[in-house]
Amino acid sequence: MSTYRIAVVVGSLRKDSFNRKLATALARLAPQDFEFQQVRIDDLPLYNQDDDGNQAEAVRRLKGEIAAAQGVLFVTPEYNRSIPGVLKNALDHGSRPYGQSCWAGKPAGVVGTSIGAIGTALAQQHLRNVLAYLDMPTLGQPEAFVHAKDGLFDADGNIGEASRAFLQGWVDKYVAWVKRHS
Ligand SMILES: Cc1cc2nc3c(=O)[nH]c(=O)nc-3n(C[C@H](O)[C@H](O)[C@H](O)COP(=O)(O)O)c2cc1C
Repeated sequence: MSTYRIAVVVGSLRKDSFNRKLATALARLAPQDFEFQQVRIDDLPLYNQDDDGNQAEAVRRLKGEIAAAQGVLFVTPEYNRSIPGVLKNALDHGSRPYGQSCWAGKPAGVVGTSIGAIGTALAQQHLRNVLAYLDMPTLGQPEAFVHAKDGLFDADGNIGEASRAFLQGWVDKYVAWVKRHS
């Protein structure tokens, strides 16, 4: 049985990030042949095109991890009705030098949680725009705009009862999507 490696990019650097917890909990809903690894983006320098010919070690590490993965899962908060700058920075780094993007062709899933009522819907829409340009086939349905509220996680960090069936369905579709496109 082959293993599908999924690189998980979390758009929040916050220690107690709801999105990081969501990423961890979603991974537990996947079948055994799926392995999820959260990649670091907090040590990437600010993107500067002058450095394209000499990318920082952290950038090369990120690109290597994405290249080795069969799929990418983006789990992001919404910052001011868009994606956090740290996530865009990571996407920009991985896309360069021109013609050497690590993202192209990798099947992607987009999900996110926020304390706001629209549950990252606008951030996800902005992210989808970027991923389309980066040539990443991205799961369209179901969408998952997750409201971060009491009970989203149980005491063990699993998805709580109220959201479990819905998010299990989302993970099942994502798994099928990766298998179809990798
Ligand atoms: C700079 C900033 C901007 C934010 N903008 C939004 C927003 O546009 N929409 C929203 O629903 N929540 C917004 N929030 C609240 C986030 O949903 C909340 O901080 C959430 O916990 C962030 O995700 P995390 O727990 O994974 O870090 C914002 C928070 C910050 C710090």
